[in-house]
Amino acid sequence: MDVSGSDAIARAVGALRDARAVAAITGAGISAESGVPTFRGTGGLWRTFRAEDLATPEAFARDPALVWDWYRWRRSRIAAARPNGGHVALARLEQRFAAFTLLTQNVDGLHLEAGSRNLVELHGNIWRARCTAEPHRLFDQRGEAPKDALPRCPCGALLRPDIVWFGELLDQTALDRAAAAVRACDVLLVVGTSALVYPVAAFPSLVDRAHATIVEVNVDATPLTAAADIVLRGPAGRILPHVERLL
Ligand code: OAD
Repeated sequence: MDVSGSDAIARAVGALRDARAVAAITGAGISAESGVPTFRGTGGLWRTFRAEDLATPEAFARDPALVWDWYRWRRSRIAAARPNGGHVALARLEQRFAAFTLLTQNVDGLHLEAGSRNLVELHGNIWRARCTAEPHRLFDQRGEAPKDALPRCPCGALLRPDIVWFGELLDQTALDRAAAAVRACDVLLVVGTSALVYPVAAFPSLVDRAHATIVEVNVDATPLTAAADIVLRGPAGRILPHVERLL
């Protein structure tokens, strides 16, 4: 797809030039070009696996070994992935605005690796584990050789992936920070998410529609498309670097 010269790109660049505060929401689509599977599209994880068996507290209570196997397999896919142009463009955009907050549903850590710092990882991080008995005890497991035995906290309790599973509450501080950034933004970029999962699905409704612009970047239409002011249809790894260069 040739995005250069498109009217929508020019409008998005114009909105960003006028913006002081920008919030960006990302989903699995931004990491697709890095080789990380999405959840709902072609080849998506939820097409092959049942979330109820793998990504709920009940699934972990029933069969922690199965859940850990699945997360270890996902870690191996993610370990082989590098940030793509979309991640890098968002990290560069952060440098250009007085206020820029990146809210991601992704747990792959690729935004951090690309250099984004004002980042809220709403669903956690796949490289972190936490104690099931004392949830404030967190363990960075990146670079650790996968073991067959279930990982345990020094206190003896099982560790679990530090991920927000279906049926669990998001961290309230992260949620408040995210909502505040969305309410205050002049431009909301919504990138590579099906916009189906709450609370992110509700964030666009927090935007101050009197003056803020919603820009969607996605290869396909989503439930948000109709509410977006500007729709940039195509891969984030091509569109975002293009927008960033034109700014
Ligand atoms: P989905 O898999 O639901 O949606 C991915 C979105 O990315 C779709 O709208 C695709 O059209 C779009 N997409 C794919 N490739 C793209 C590309 N190269 N450039 C731009 N867009 C692209 O993933 P999420 O919306 O992130 O939660 O899913 C939200 C949450 O549901 C996930 O965080 C996960 C999942 O269940 C948990 O595991 C708790």
